[in-house]
Amino acid sequence: MGAAMPVTRNKPEVMIRLDNVSKHYDMDSVGVTALDSVSLRVDEGEFIVVLGPSGSGKTTLLNMIGALDTPSSGEIAVAGMRVTGARRKELFSFRRRAVAFIFQSFNLFPGLTALENVQFAVDVTGGHDREEARRMLAEVGLGERVEHFPHELSGGEQQRVAIARALATGNPVLLADEPTGELDFRTGVAILELLRKQAEAGKTVLVVTHNREISRVADRVVELSSGKIISDGPPEGGRALISDLRW
Ligand SMILES: Nc1ncnc2c1ncn2[C@@H]1O[C@H](COP(=O)(O)OP(=O)(O)OP(=O)(O)O)[C@@H](O)[C@H]1O
Ligand SMILES: [Mg+2]
Repeated sequence: MGAAMPVTRNKPEVMIRLDNVSKHYDMDSVGVTALDSVSLRVDEGEFIVVLGPSGSGKTTLLNMIGALDTPSSGEIAVAGMRVTGARRKELFSFRRRAVAFIFQSFNLFPGLTALENVQFAVDVTGGHDREEARRMLAEVGLGERVEHFPHELSGGEQQRVAIARALATGNPVLLADEPTGELDFRTGVAILELLRKQAEAGKTVLVVTHNREISRVADRVVELSSGKIISDGPPEGGRALISDLRW
């Protein structure tokens, strides 16, 4: 990554590549197969929803892509780096420069203000621009709330801080695990709009959900069942406008 890479606007780069990725857990005598030979290509700038019921392997898949977990077999490459087989040190720098996670439960530091929570991500990823955190909070519509602590913010506002924190890393791949799970309809729609905007600006965005309604706004829906991809393509009936969603 970086300024030296040639920019190919009309031919997107493959940002995420999984080849026959499986993940097995040994639980006493019974084994669990969380991912079963999953192969997937995601281009730069795609907005993908990974859809599937509880236990279908969605979080496992995100964790593999973000190098928070390692597959039992198969190959993974993200943002130009082969993740499988990489050394610890390489993975450490990969997590800082390639991916950003947005969690269902926000995971903000309760003792830090909105600004400090976002600033933390800027610091960890080696950014030196002191105004970056403030800019990101303005971008998600929280420019006036930067000095507030998480408990002084609504669920939707906290999730927007979490998104600002993910954006502040500057990393090209956004991985969101049920980011609208705890939010009401209107707030959830606003969060999806924000994430879609990020994909339009060139980030690669994967949103995990068990909610089929949410999947309708994606460019592409990857459906998981029992650790397998059972369908991959545009949403049924074509892409819906975010304003058409009901859940
Ligand atoms: N550390 C683990 N040890 C054993 N089994 C695990 C572990 N992590 C996940 N699993 C199992 O792997 C399967 C997939 O789990 P995963 O968390 O990826 O599902 P999910 O689709 O994210 O579900 P949810 O919608 O409930 O979050 C489940 O059957 C789960 O019990
Ligand atoms: Mg999950």
